[in-house]
Amino acid sequence: MTQAEKERLAKVGKTFNAKAYIKNEIAAIRKQVGDKKVLLAMSGGVDSSVCAVLLQKAIGKQLVCVFVDHGCMRLNEAKEVKKVFKGKFGINLIALDCEKRFLAKAKGVTEPELKRKIIGGEFIKVFADTARDLKKKYGDIEFLGQGTIFPDIMESGVGGHKAVKAHHNVGGLPKDIIFKGLVEPVKYLYKDEVRKVGKLLGIPEAMVMRQPFPGPGLAVRCIGELTKEKLDILRAADYVFRSEMHKAKLDKKAQQFFAIMTNVRSVGVKNGARTYGYVIGIRAISTTQFVKAGVVELPFKFVTKVAEKIATTVKGANRVVWDITPKPPATIEWE
Ligand code: XMP
Repeated sequence: MTQAEKERLAKVGKTFNAKAYIKNEIAAIRKQVGDKKVLLAMSGGVDSSVCAVLLQKAIGKQLVCVFVDHGCMRLNEAKEVKKVFKGKFGINLIALDCEKRFLAKAKGVTEPELKRKIIGGEFIKVFADTARDLKKKYGDIEFLGQGTIFPDIMESGVGGHKAVKAHHNVGGLPKDIIFKGLVEPVKYLYKDEVRKVGKLLGIPEAMVMRQPFPGPGLAVRCIGELTKEKLDILRAADYVFRSEMHKAKLDKKAQQFFAIMTNVRSVGVKNGARTYGYVIGIRAISTTQFVKAGVVELPFKFVTKVAEKIATTVKGANRVVWDITPKPPATIEWE
């Protein structure tokens, strides 16, 4: 048993009990944070949503949530997050548009691990800057909240596991920034356990069952340099695929389904004229713990319909390929 697994056992026990976990975690957060404030990195995904509600229950007004649009978000993501968390839950949420800052930092970078590290590093800096800016309004913000989950720790090589890739939200904070510590209320949970906690906390089913979206966002699905042009094409293609999956009620069959910008261009024909556009990948996987994943057998007619729709309606894309590789040997994300 690795160190991380021992820690999980101590925190979660042999059989997971969501009710007991919530009770213990609320007490643990109160003990760790005291009367200090927490800035939570809110992505709108399942993990950070559950963290937000857990933290709100534990420390109420001492919580400030910040949503950072790093330019690698899906279509309409920022709008939806604001609507749900500010609107429905009344959470103190600040949404920041940092697209230009992130893309400038990642300019010219093509190496996958470096791209991840740049985004991860910039993320922490944005939060530190925000904490400084918010100091006047809220007083000192000493803790940074994050929705790290157990597979993130295992796959990043922390706690005795072999490193597969650098997850941006693992490894702690650089010493020179202003947070005194990390609050990670779902750090020892698997995804299905996070969902159980979310349901019990009263988060709507549609939100709790939302497909996971990685911290670096579309950056791990956009091969090569991150440019606004490529990301906009990817966003549009991804929206078409996801909408069609929902419409065809195939969304329940897959835990993750998304489009990929392959960075390869090919020749096509639209309205009788030659095009030279990007090749888009589509991927739908089924998994329980995200450590292994199988390919969802989407109906072939459906796949060709999606391919045609993306290639005809998304400007800049003219061909679609279907990723039919299980994990292992491929990872779920492309980078
Ligand atoms: P892979 O691609 O490693 O993905 O098979 C396993 C699961 O983790 C998600 N993922 C990430 N989540 N930061 C995250 O928060 C990351 O850097 C990251 N990389 C992958 C991926 O979407 C899948 O659910």
